Amino acid sequence: MIAALPLWGHPELDGRRSAGRLNDETPFCCKDPHWEVIGPFVGEGIGLETEEQCFIGCYVKWDKHAAGCAQFKLKRRAGGIPMKITVFNGSPRGRRSNSHRIVEPFLEGCRQGGAEVEEVFLVEKNIEHCRGCFHCWTETPGVCVLKDDMTELMRVFLESDVVGMATPVYGMYMTALLKNFTDRFLPLATPHIRKNEDGTFYHDGRVSRMPQQFMIANSGFPGEHNFDLLKAVAAMQGAVLEVYRNCGEALQDMDDPQAPLYDRLVEYGQALRDAGREMAVEGQVSASTQERLNMELMSDEEYMAGANEHWDARLEGQDTDSAD
Ligand SMILES: Cc1cc2nc3c(=O)[nH]c(=O)nc-3n(C[C@H](O)[C@H](O)[C@H](O)COP(=O)(O)O)c2cc1C
Repeated sequence: MIAALPLWGHPELDGRRSAGRLNDETPFCCKDPHWEVIGPFVGEGIGLETEEQCFIGCYVKWDKHAAGCAQFKLKRRAGGIPMKITVFNGSPRGRRSNSHRIVEPFLEGCRQGGAEVEEVFLVEKNIEHCRGCFHCWTETPGVCVLKDDMTELMRVFLESDVVGMATPVYGMYMTALLKNFTDRFLPLATPHIRKNEDGTFYHDGRVSRMPQQFMIANSGFPGEHNFDLLKAVAAMQGAVLEVYRNCGEALQDMDDPQAPLYDRLVEYGQALRDAGREMAVEGQVSASTQERLNMELMSDEEYMAGANEHWDARLEGQDTDSAD
């Protein structure tokens, strides 16, 4: 069945070092046991040619300072695996969260695009705080001294081709749950400090292949400024997609066909599904879909009025149907 093949692969490709973008002349060999490079992309468009052969978009980092997007004609070796897309949901509300209301249709689209998907609810996991002991750099390189669910989650992270971090905005940033989770990635770095040409600093990584990352955030306020810090994080990660949903509490009405905003929310859900499918098939989300993801759900005034009414009702003990 052709549809079972991923259009976005994750082979490790060894390219000629280059200061610029990869081009059709760049020779590659593929270390991935699932894929074999049989030629450069020659512009026929993205799509399967035969059951065994397809064009695959690959994001390749070939040195510290240059990275590029290129497509290759790959042949699937026997036993090839589908692309894996994982989202780590950092909301304390877990399965009842607005974050999940964004992630669910997105991953549904990814699945429709042929990807294997998983949403991990961090609130359901046992993740201790990083102790800052640096044993993972010295005594047990690459291995944390803490024995908790992070061992398994690190495996899920590294086995994924694309990883999303989903969070509500808490104090203009991410939740403590998600921050705690990301702190525990220290074992993936090596100790020595290196300097980039632009004056910033970094640690070399310990693994040869890191998943691409994307960011999903929703805020309780209207407006855009709530996402400023998360946008800075996403830029540092080289995020391949950023979904910032203001008026996040309006997503609670996604399952209520009687809600005045329902039709708009259905439209938003469809934009998320389309984004997921594009991510799985093409490895990126088109500008037109990104624009739909940024759609305004309602005016600031409408949202404020609805939110304040909700809080008044709760203060008076009339409304107990909340996500918390
Ligand atoms: C401790 C806390 C801090 C918050 N800080 C912000 C904030 O700085 N800006 C904002 O827009 N919303 C803030 N919110 C509101 C949440 O972002 C909002 O309720 C969101 O929709 C919850 O999403 P979730 O259901 O995915 O957890 C905060 C909520 C809590 C509980």
